[in-house]
Amino acid sequence: MKIEWKGREAINNIKPYSPGKAIDEVKKELGLEIVYKMASNENPLGPSRLAIDAIKENISNIHIYPDGSSLMLKKEIAKKNNIKIEEIIIGNGSDEIIKLLGESFLEEGDTIIMGDPSFSEYDYIGNLMGAKVKKIPLVNFAFNLEDILDNLDDSVKIIALCNPNNPTGTVIGKDELIDFIDRIPEKIIVVLDEAYKEYAGENFYSGLNFIKEEKNNVLVLNTFSKIYGLAALRVGYGIGSESLISWITRAKEPFNVNVLAQVGAKAALNDNEHIKNSIDLNEDGKVFFYKEFSNRGFEYSESGANFIWVDIKNDSKLVFEGLLKKGIVIRPGNVFGADTHIRVTIDKPEINKYFIEMLDEVIKEI
Ligand SMILES: Cc1ncc(COP(=O)(O)O)c(C=O)c1O
Repeated sequence: MKIEWKGREAINNIKPYSPGKAIDEVKKELGLEIVYKMASNENPLGPSRLAIDAIKENISNIHIYPDGSSLMLKKEIAKKNNIKIEEIIIGNGSDEIIKLLGESFLEEGDTIIMGDPSFSEYDYIGNLMGAKVKKIPLVNFAFNLEDILDNLDDSVKIIALCNPNNPTGTVIGKDELIDFIDRIPEKIIVVLDEAYKEYAGENFYSGLNFIKEEKNNVLVLNTFSKIYGLAALRVGYGIGSESLISWITRAKEPFNVNVLAQVGAKAALNDNEHIKNSIDLNEDGKVFFYKEFSNRGFEYSESGANFIWVDIKNDSKLVFEGLLKKGIVIRPGNVFGADTHIRVTIDKPEINKYFIEMLDEVIKEI
């Protein structure tokens, strides 16, 4: 007789992550030749050239285990941010660091607080570790920091703030953030997930400032998957106090980041031209989308990221399916509990224009 397996109760509560559909999958399913993926906030300009060159140079070294501490990459990040290497952890994507954080700190019965809607990995680690996940509804698409403060109790171990937030793109203002961090008890870890910070503009107030002021309970997360265009390499990093980082590092696998990811990320970090071009392209796309959405009376939230969260006043699932048939993948809001919203990644001008044309067609057809 076959065994009917039953895993840990905590795992039972985890809803599988629903990733943006892969291009090849959509092409095959729908018999399409061209598919535009505007669903996962990747960089439409592709990877930094410097990263590609570094990867090519190192491709024949893949028979050797990578440096388990990613020291060369850490040194480069430390230099760029004027911090110590002991304040850095490199992960197989920032996803891995989120998971390691949960594994190092969350006990059963602890609470993790996050926004709703916000990035689902925080929900995942809470459930994975048998902790409670408290979701605080956003107000006007932004974190309600007062509501979060009102919800603190002894069980709260972690507060996760994506800044800018995914999926709404909203940015927390400097004064509001400083005031919030000041009011959080030191024993609660505040994650400032800054996956999109490069797009957030000059007034963005990074959590790095708190690390430099020796706030021991702040963990800043960054990734090479977005503006650096290295999503498939899987590399991200966390910055925090030496003590916090040393605990998270204990939970890490010995060789978590592969050699191509390490050298690619190191090269991309200082590719200022690629970063500038990516920001400029994104700004132009934002202006275009804001205008087009306004013309149609669609409410959107101002984005500090490379995507826009917009209310298209129609069933997001139907719009998602309609766009898919026309070769465009977006994120429907229903996966975030918002039935008439979509999240669309800003792409190159001609693709943004095509998206708007197809959106009009799909909505007419509904
Ligand atoms: C807010 C946020 N944090 C983290 C990540 C994960 O990034 P990585 O590719 O580094 O795992 C994402 C990816 O979409 C994200 O939106």
